[in-house]
Amino acid sequence: MCGIVGYTGNRPCQEILLAGLERLEYRGYDSAGISLIANGGVDSVRAVGSPSKQLRAAMNGEPSIAVSGIGHTRWATHGRVTEENCHPHDDNSGRVHVVMNGIVENWTDLKQRLQARGATFSSQTDTEVVAHLIASFYDGDLVEAVRLAYNELRGHYAFVAMHADEPETLVGARHECPLVTGVGDGESFIASAIPAFLGDTRRIQLVEDGEIVAVTPEGARFLDSSGAAVEREVREVDWDVETAEKGGYDTFMLKEIHEQADAVAETVADRLAHGTVELGDIGIADDHLSGLRRVVIVACGTSYHAGLIGRYAIESWSRIPVEMDVASEFRYRDPVIDERDLVIGITQSGETADTLAAMRLARKKGAKVLAITNIMGSQATRDSDGVLFTRAGLEIGVAATKTFVAQVAAMYLFALKLAAVRDTLEREHFERLVSELRGLSHKVGELVESVDVPVRAMAKHWREAGFFLYLGRHAGLAVALEGALKLKEIAYVPTDAYAAGEMKHGPIALLDERTPVVCVATDSPVLDKVLSNISETRARGAHVLAVATEGNTEVAEHAEEVVYVPSTDWMFQPLLAVIPLQLLAYYIASEKGLNVDQPRNLAKTVTVE
Ligand code: F6R
Repeated sequence: MCGIVGYTGNRPCQEILLAGLERLEYRGYDSAGISLIANGGVDSVRAVGSPSKQLRAAMNGEPSIAVSGIGHTRWATHGRVTEENCHPHDDNSGRVHVVMNGIVENWTDLKQRLQARGATFSSQTDTEVVAHLIASFYDGDLVEAVRLAYNELRGHYAFVAMHADEPETLVGARHECPLVTGVGDGESFIASAIPAFLGDTRRIQLVEDGEIVAVTPEGARFLDSSGAAVEREVREVDWDVETAEKGGYDTFMLKEIHEQADAVAETVADRLAHGTVELGDIGIADDHLSGLRRVVIVACGTSYHAGLIGRYAIESWSRIPVEMDVASEFRYRDPVIDERDLVIGITQSGETADTLAAMRLARKKGAKVLAITNIMGSQATRDSDGVLFTRAGLEIGVAATKTFVAQVAAMYLFALKLAAVRDTLEREHFERLVSELRGLSHKVGELVESVDVPVRAMAKHWREAGFFLYLGRHAGLAVALEGALKLKEIAYVPTDAYAAGEMKHGPIALLDERTPVVCVATDSPVLDKVLSNISETRARGAHVLAVATEGNTEVAEHAEEVVYVPSTDWMFQPLLAVIPLQLLAYYIASEKGLNVDQPRNLAKTVTVE
């Protein structure tokens, strides 16, 4: 949540910072601002709204000649969305400016202490406290002032500070929120995420937790919190700048829906060689996996739904019991967990505060933790014993799509791995699953193309519906939950998603002739039961939109409208069935003229609990 970017080098940087913020807009877009050092002072522009619209509009004067500065795009935590609360914040003298992502938990104590010493505040944010604190320690050395301030802060945050007296230096600090530097030619970058400077350099250095980094045009110098120097390698990332652009699509979300075949192919490809599952070094030994008592999956939102699908695959193929919990519940329920359990934390960003806290708790209780994440070097990779990377590439649309299918594919891989180490599947069955999983990405590619037109027509017809009910059973329930979440979050349409068998215990009362009921009715051992549930909804006059498996003619006899997905092993059907539901949400939101990439009140990474 919140994006920060900094530049120091040899080029005027106003446009560089603005472009960087635009590429970080997915992290938050409540308000934005930049501060530039020029002529011995600092100029700031801040605006309520997004970097690409309101901030750009606010910068309509002469372009600045400044060659160093910092910028911020905000997802509000402390203080309402007002201009006073926009970053960058300063220490009132206007010499120290700070941008921050995350939360300082002891900010009220610090604020009182600073006020007692005469500091006056103009915002309700914790970040302004950081600016004052740094100023209170400043004695001609910004790095040292940041280090001293850092040692007083509690919470989880990353910030970048600059001082008018040291125009070429930006100082960043990180505690459980991401920060990365970019290495250029006579210029350096610092940001919350790599896309901010992807157009300028692909050479990066990761800032680790508990570190302070001093960035100058010559490069970055890393220190730990005691001030000792730390060596850091330069890595090259293989993302290109097109990844962070729309590439001819109207929106990032649509582009990412169309990239799902690649996301699945990349995630499974080289891990399914020679008819078996080769996950490489995932940090947890096969011996440990084969002796597990239980698997516990923790995640939030869409990632939780990927976990739900994984649960069915693990239980069915490896016969290990699986427990699921949303991370925000798990962490506060004093879960019964020990070293015989494996906890899987699924988080595409690798930054979700609740998921990370749940993973840390599980490790404290002795369980091994496996992270499934899309982001190299993310916090989740540090708070775990092992990592299984999804390889979906960068996802910018706030609503997760391609990272979801990649997570589901990763869960299938891991479930097969467990089955292999425990030898719980017949050879022929195992090989058939491996072969189907290898071929799944082609089916995803075909499906995205074939389903677009019928789903768009469906969306046009149902765009005014005030409520949608989603139903599914078994792993199809996870698809129903995910489809309903997509519609809620980008089209703002109230939905409910229910286990189809539970419908008659309550939600059936909601149905009338105006209610579209989306049913996941792909082939599975429970399809007959789903068909009975469809009949029950139709008997109440509701209108059924079903997702079924190609070649199945029976579903069409039960539902008013059917979209078909390719046939595959029934356990893999959920990965396909979700695609028409993503598109349904997408086209309903588009019909309503909504900004699907930046739905209201949301942010791509949720670094607060
Ligand atoms: C919905 C969505 C969210 C995320 C959730 C967890 O489209 O994207 O529900 O799935 O915030 O995020 P990660 O996976 O980054 O932990």
